[in-house]
Amino acid sequence: MLKIAVLVSGGGTNLQAIMDAIENGKITNTEISVVISNNKNAYALERAASKGIEGICISPKDFESRAEFNAAFLEKLNSYQVDLVVLAGFLVVIPPEMIAQYRNRIINIHPSLIPSFCGTGFYGLKVHEGALARGVKVTGATVHFVDEGTDTGPIILQKAVSILDDDTPEILQRRVMEEAEWKILPQAIDLIANGKVKVENNKTKIM
Ligand code: GRF
Repeated sequence: MLKIAVLVSGGGTNLQAIMDAIENGKITNTEISVVISNNKNAYALERAASKGIEGICISPKDFESRAEFNAAFLEKLNSYQVDLVVLAGFLVVIPPEMIAQYRNRIINIHPSLIPSFCGTGFYGLKVHEGALARGVKVTGATVHFVDEGTDTGPIILQKAVSILDDDTPEILQRRVMEEAEWKILPQAIDLIANGKVKVENNKTKIM
């Protein structure tokens, strides 16, 4: 059984997709041990509570320095002894010590086809604004392992989504979630839970 922690900051629709996929059997061999939010008002915490999943809040704002937060955050995460950490719209920078300790055991969902519209500054609506400003016809979402860079880790799954003439950043964001994020994030977790993802030379092999 793969034990996972899901890290969130906001609405938690990706968390919902994971919980639903566990319930309907699209994700197998997996249980959510904890949902961690940096924002105590995140609706994601209510979604977790509604399924009886433990939800906790830990925020950099409650610590005097980033180093103190990072240490407390790592200790908290370690206390749950999870096999995989899933970043589902988590807006806090993952401490380097956490990345090192959880090498190839942290995954993130990014709302574009990496390496387009990713890296520093490309988060939330800015990703979709960038795609519309460039006039690309196809965007999508990417699930990748987290390494020390921003959106540079091994890519696990990607799914393309068409851009339509009248798209606004908000409309596009919603379509990318519905058609790509909510599908490939659960799918990646299921693949990992069943031992089907191998990492070699910063690339993955899906078996
Ligand atoms: C998603 O668009 C995700 O790709 C991005 O943040 C958003 C999270 O939404 N990194 P939600 O909290 O899962 O609804």
